[in-house]
Amino acid sequence: MAVLSVSDAVRRRKSVRAFLPVPVDNAVIADVLARATRAPSGGNLQPWRLFVLNGDSMARFAVLMAGRLAENPMGEPPQYQVYPQNLKEPYRTRRFEIGEAMYAHLGISRADKFARLQWLQNNDRFFGAPAAAFCFMDRIMGPPQWSDLGMMLQTAMLLFAEQGIDTCPQESWSRWPKTVADFVGAPPDLMLFCGLAIGHADPDAPVNKLAAARASAEEVITFI
Ligand SMILES: Cc1cc2nc3c(=O)[nH]c(=O)nc-3n(C[C@H](O)[C@H](O)[C@H](O)COP(=O)(O)O)c2cc1C
Repeated sequence: MAVLSVSDAVRRRKSVRAFLPVPVDNAVIADVLARATRAPSGGNLQPWRLFVLNGDSMARFAVLMAGRLAENPMGEPPQYQVYPQNLKEPYRTRRFEIGEAMYAHLGISRADKFARLQWLQNNDRFFGAPAAAFCFMDRIMGPPQWSDLGMMLQTAMLLFAEQGIDTCPQESWSRWPKTVADFVGAPPDLMLFCGLAIGHADPDAPVNKLAAARASAEEVITFI
């Protein structure tokens, strides 16, 4: 396989929300994540902590989650708020538009709350991905270190893209902080930020045809 340029990897990476049941080797995941830790961090704190599920651990976690979803479809109390309350413009519209575009690809109407809830629960199955990583942060850390974690995550996603492996970062796991921490054995000083689904995209799944729009460069970049 020809090595992708960084630009190609940036172009190729997108959030995939339907995966094929094709395994990904632990060795590949270990190699990518280890290289992703070359990401910069303020003070070189490297404030990230990752736990990987694959093969048997993913199968055991899936059984656990099926039980949890049956008991409590809405999830556990979150430990952080994903979006600010009363999102203002332009964020509110951007969030609304990506949601509507996704449900349009899925053929789910705005009124069909049940289908939307069912879809949300697909997040809780990593969209069928065979492997995943959970990303934790020490609770003492603040916004600068959360930003560091984001850089590491994007580096990992680009390196996965280079390997022809697809991903979806998932803040939806903020609905299951206790279940996840207990399962992976995370110490109490760590806080779950997100999951990262890892696998091979199902090319026939309509949801994977979604191409998320971006604001124009003029809107977000100003040369002074
Ligand atoms: C930290 C983070 C968390 C995210 N959480 C979710 C999630 O829980 N579920 C989901 O379907 N997409 C999630 N996304 C994907 C975003 O919706 C997606 O990145 C955005 O719409 C841009 O699309 P693209 O990634 O395909 O370019 C998340 C993205 C990031 C960076």
